[in-house]
Amino acid sequence: MIKTKNLVFLFLFALNFFTYDQIAKAYPIFAQQNYQNPREPNGRIVCANCHLAQKPVEIEVPQAVLPDSVFEASIKIPYDKSIQQVQSNGKKGDLNVGMVLILPEGFSLAPTDRIPEEMKTKVGQLYYQPYSDTQSNLLVAGPVPGKDYSQMVVPILSPDPAKDKNVNYLKYPIYLGGNRGRGQLYPDGSKSNNNIFNSSVSGKITEIKTSKKSTSIVIETSNGETITEKIPAGPTIIVSEGEAVKIDQPLTNNPNVGGFGQAETEIVLQNPARVQGLIIFLITIFITQIFLVLKKKQVEKVQLAEMNF
Ligand SMILES: *[C@@H]1O[C@H](CO)[C@@H](O)[C@H](O)[C@H]1NC(C)=O
Repeated sequence: MIKTKNLVFLFLFALNFFTYDQIAKAYPIFAQQNYQNPREPNGRIVCANCHLAQKPVEIEVPQAVLPDSVFEASIKIPYDKSIQQVQSNGKKGDLNVGMVLILPEGFSLAPTDRIPEEMKTKVGQLYYQPYSDTQSNLLVAGPVPGKDYSQMVVPILSPDPAKDKNVNYLKYPIYLGGNRGRGQLYPDGSKSNNNIFNSSVSGKITEIKTSKKSTSIVIETSNGETITEKIPAGPTIIVSEGEAVKIDQPLTNNPNVGGFGQAETEIVLQNPARVQGLIIFLITIFITQIFLVLKKKQVEKVQLAEMNF
């Protein structure tokens, strides 16, 4: 009995550890845990603190939406799907993608029962989550396989100024942060293996020892001191024994193939009364035009009659 219990415990522990390791690679969660607001006052989205390389992202939304309506934001995080990145164990693997979407206050993820079937198909299995309990206008997704989700469709519900007094019929900005691939730094500032590693001294390489998990490069400086640079498995060593290196000279290639990008767009929360007003105005013009044409025809007839007379 006790044995079974232990076994279950061990299993749960292992499972937990495994999941933790998965989460440890999960960029939006890092941001959620470490920053109350993912967008800094200067406009920088916090993911850029750990994902140092820049790559483009795109966002498209309708130019205007009506209140209390569901619309879609289309997100693109493009990259070459044939490339692979170094994983934390040093082996090569596919890239994941993730994103944070900063909507205007009052906008939120559309509830499932309000999403039209056609839009549901485009959204697919992707799961969007509010950034925090109090910020339902900030959405995150990922990390998810980039091969499947380098394009995402987010179903969004617009607010209703009639019900929400904090919202007005205005033009609002929308901000997107999107990432593909692993970061270069962990939130605690430590370096991941998805980095270039440089020599911290000038000297001569006397020995290179490679094990499964890391490579140790022993460098002898001009005053006879030896230091060992320990490089985790992943990046490719580009120096060899006997070679002289300078301080800050790269000892490895730069294995990072991913990057983070930001984009922004605008959306107008359109007052339906204004749209109705516009339609009435257009109809008025249309009718006026028709009357003008009819009047002209009538005048022509009269003229013709007079000429024949
Ligand atoms: C290592 O060297 C490269 C190329 O010279 C440089 O771009 C990079 O900033 C250096 N990295 C560190 C951590 O010093």
